[in-house]
Amino acid sequence: MTASPVVFADRLLSLGLARVSEAAAMASAELVGRGDEKAADQAAVNAMRDQLNLLDIKGTVVIGEGERDEAPMLYIGEEVGTGNGPEVDIALDPLEGTTLTAKDMPNALTVIAMAPRGTLLHAPDVYMDKLAIGPGYPTDVVSLDMSPSERVNALAKARGCAPKDITVCVLERPRHEEMIADIRSTGAAIRLITDGDVAGVIHCAEAEKTGVDMYMGSGGAPEGVLAASALKCMGGQMWGRLTFRNDDERGRAAKAGITELDRIYARDDMVQADVIFAATGVTDGSIVEGIRREPEHLTTETLLMRSKTGSIRRMTYRNPKEWVGA
Ligand code: FBP
Repeated sequence: MTASPVVFADRLLSLGLARVSEAAAMASAELVGRGDEKAADQAAVNAMRDQLNLLDIKGTVVIGEGERDEAPMLYIGEEVGTGNGPEVDIALDPLEGTTLTAKDMPNALTVIAMAPRGTLLHAPDVYMDKLAIGPGYPTDVVSLDMSPSERVNALAKARGCAPKDITVCVLERPRHEEMIADIRSTGAAIRLITDGDVAGVIHCAEAEKTGVDMYMGSGGAPEGVLAASALKCMGGQMWGRLTFRNDDERGRAAKAGITELDRIYARDDMVQADVIFAATGVTDGSIVEGIRREPEHLTTETLLMRSKTGSIRRMTYRNPKEWVGA
């Protein structure tokens, strides 16, 4: 007799996942604006790992802090959870925007996603060319094979507006200078961000609130899978193509089991089944508020979403400081 598969009880697990995300954010609270990226990241990693290990799951970190030999905690392949419960893949970034946190700049988040085992892309730590738009557009209205200006024009046409009414979010990097010039040639506006492209992509899903219609440019591939998880819950389309600068990076892909190096991954190729996603604000942002520090309490805001239902919760959590980490 074969054992029946353990059901991915995403409804119950989601609240546990929110706690994991909250714990990481609260742990980094005292390090916001202190100029120490490493300490902030370490505090978030420790807290996220401790909370994750309390969950009744048989979890494997597939997007984590790095390869086993470079990251002692939450490394790719680390088994997490109590071992009792469903087999799941975990993608996480305990502090997405370490520099944003250290400088107290907007949109630093703690981020975690969970899906049934074998359904999240094992993206190596290389760059990914990303393109994302919000819900409500025809399938494949824009593509990674179009030039940046073609994407703007196609999106404007689909939205029934002029290119100048489109806003594109882009990471401010020298490697994006040509892309930025091409976008500007259409008259479109650009929201430049200094870091944090998971938040950058999420902006597209709430265009009316954030004013961002499209995200494009290259950033971390692990962050790409996290962003795809969020968009799968909120609606919206996303594509990613890994880019490689040298043999070491190609080796990372091989290690992750990736053979087709120039493949374009659509959102659902990166996240192949239902997923739960939680993100807690560390610094204030357009998606969630950052941590509020009072003498006796910490308050966090968490975005918690399930793709199965498309449900989106924004949860405020006020916790006496003495209980943080307990
Ligand atoms: P960290 O939190 O690890 O510093 O990552 C921040 C980030 O801005 C990501 O959001 C983005 O994907 C990546 O760095 C971009 O990489 P780079 O800074 O090398 O352009």
